[in-house]
Amino acid sequence: MHTMPDAATPPSLLIERGASLRTFNTFGLPALAKTLVKVQSEADVKKVVNHPELGRAPKFILGGGSNLVLTQDVNLCVIKVEIKGIRLLETRDDAHIVEVGAGESWHETVRWCLDQGLPGLENMALIPGTVGASPVQNIGAYGVELKDRFESLDAVDMVTGRTVTLDGDACGFGYRDSIFKRHLSGKSVITRVRLRLPRPWVPVLGYLELERKMTETGIAQPEARQIFDWICEVRRAKLPDPAVIGNAGSFFKNPVVTPEQCRDIIGRDPEIVHYPLDDGSFKLAAGWMIDACGWKGKSIGRAGVYERQALVLVNRGGASGAEVVTLARAIQESVYGRFGIRLEPEPVVV
Ligand code: EPU
Repeated sequence: MHTMPDAATPPSLLIERGASLRTFNTFGLPALAKTLVKVQSEADVKKVVNHPELGRAPKFILGGGSNLVLTQDVNLCVIKVEIKGIRLLETRDDAHIVEVGAGESWHETVRWCLDQGLPGLENMALIPGTVGASPVQNIGAYGVELKDRFESLDAVDMVTGRTVTLDGDACGFGYRDSIFKRHLSGKSVITRVRLRLPRPWVPVLGYLELERKMTETGIAQPEARQIFDWICEVRRAKLPDPAVIGNAGSFFKNPVVTPEQCRDIIGRDPEIVHYPLDDGSFKLAAGWMIDACGWKGKSIGRAGVYERQALVLVNRGGASGAEVVTLARAIQESVYGRFGIRLEPEPVVV
């Protein structure tokens, strides 16, 4: 690997060839990027678009690498987004608007908002990754999704080099999904996200784990900071810290089925954990199904199923992306064999 300032661009744009991506993905999987460019401003992104050689190359956009399974070297121009900055942009009657650079840590952003007396993100504490990645898969936890706290974002179109501002409707948010996972994949770089924190603040306490904390502590009306602390405790108890054990959070989406399918499965497996959705369909707990198939704590090669949460696959040390994918396929087959449900991976597999 070598680092060289490119003659055709101003010196601030650093281009690396054959760069290791191991430390840039939370699974800790080994892979090289043919070309890696770190961007620290919107102007840097535009320099990439106008670069005589990089401009035409297909792009791969990397945030915190927390939702990524690398099974091979990346033969594209990898853009690592390191755009910083966070500020309270505006206070309206109905909301505070906070503007955040795409390269800021999501969790630190949640903490910063609370420190400024701006509650609303506390249920999404400790989600790994960057702010720029948060709209891509519409992150969510404990009853709140990014789309519920989203105002707009700025992104640079990698073909025209123009900045576009998109609101929530334009982002096409769905369950762990948005247009950035679909037709805009690799075509636009998110540079800034504006978060909408509703006023007055209303706590979201409907999740079983939070109800349990309220009962245990006798705190019936928790402050946002208290909810933040509880969420951190709940997550630390059952999700592995990527800094200690490589992982990408939930490996599979929770499948959504029709009432008929749900009834059929309950008929055979009365214990199955399921939740009714507003549109009449049901969401099934993939973690429960994987657990029921006996996978918890099992491994294939150096890839394993986390002991405390079967929905999370982990790198037991030195795993390859191929081992992770082999394990994921074996799990998909056993879940299909027993429940007739095809589990869909949540992270992007490259
Ligand atoms: N369960 C088991 N065994 C397991 C795992 C889960 O029986 O090994 C059961 C649990 O007891 C529970 C049910 O399955 O009754 C659901 O599990 P849990 O509440 O832990 O939530 P989840 O469905 O596994 C989802 C999100 C998480 C998010 C939590 C809380 C997805 C794919 N995952 O997990 O998001 O933190 O709800 O809202 O939607 C992520 O996306 O990376 C992520 C961690």
